[in-house]
Amino acid sequence: MAKPRHSRVPGRKSSSSTMVLTALIMFTFLVLILLALGILSIPSSNTGNSHKPNDLSTIAHNVVDKNDYDEGVGEQWVEVISWEPRAFVYHNFLSKEECEYLIDLAKPHMEKSTVVDIETGKSKDSRVRTSSGTFLPRGRDKIIRNIEKRIADYTFIPVEHGEGLQVLHYEVGQKYEPHYDYFMDEYNTQNGGQRIATVLMYLSDVEEGGETVFPAAKGNVSAVPWWNELSECGKGGLSVKPKMGDALLFWSMKPDASLDPSSLHGGCPVIRGNKWSSTKWMRVNEYKV
Ligand SMILES: *[C@@H]1O[C@H](CO)[C@@H](O)[C@H](O)[C@H]1NC(C)=O
Repeated sequence: MAKPRHSRVPGRKSSSSTMVLTALIMFTFLVLILLALGILSIPSSNTGNSHKPNDLSTIAHNVVDKNDYDEGVGEQWVEVISWEPRAFVYHNFLSKEECEYLIDLAKPHMEKSTVVDIETGKSKDSRVRTSSGTFLPRGRDKIIRNIEKRIADYTFIPVEHGEGLQVLHYEVGQKYEPHYDYFMDEYNTQNGGQRIATVLMYLSDVEEGGETVFPAAKGNVSAVPWWNELSECGKGGLSVKPKMGDALLFWSMKPDASLDPSSLHGGCPVIRGNKWSSTKWMRVNEYKV
């Protein structure tokens, strides 16, 4: 009743093919492990250059996808200026045509700028702010609606939370002393609540002076690449030089909704040239117009 032992011969065959298979599997695993190690080492080598949180020499350069509206516009990218205050420059945010359009619209209506009276909450004349300006109503026309939509996309704050665009003109010697954009009174926060963020758009280049300065910014303010081009006033803090089409976004409130005193900012006196800018203030809630 001996069973035919067929298994022996095929058994020897299968053991040699098993060895080949095992070697193949081991080789595959080795390759996979090496790949995995390679993959893991790529991001770790990128984050290897560890920067201090307030090191202003580390500037992020993020190219934004080209959109329809920006034919003939220079490269659009967002530059992190500071984390305290949270401030960013969106380069070439507006086209030259949009800048000129806003200036032309505002020009016939420019009035001496006022500031908010801390006691009454009403507007008053002031020597701390010597520019002239005018408001353009929200959604006034297609070009302005386009710009307002772009601001909403940039800031993640809905168009309905924005005040009307303010266009400002500073001539030689004119300035805006450092101030907060948030309110200290009850009157001005009734509609829309507190101001959460500001987008300041430069509508013209300024030959000298006219920087936006954050005197309370944390970090090494002299580490910015444009330090040597700044005016005395501009060297009094972290400064952004006006450049036609650029948009400076900064937050007056921290992510926990408390007011951010490091958002203190001013407009340095214009030394040579003319400064045109446009401001969009944004509220925590919907701002009814
Ligand atoms: C600030 O940055 C400048 C320019 O990079 C450098 O020369 C200076 O030593 C820095 N100061 C401090 C306190 O780190």
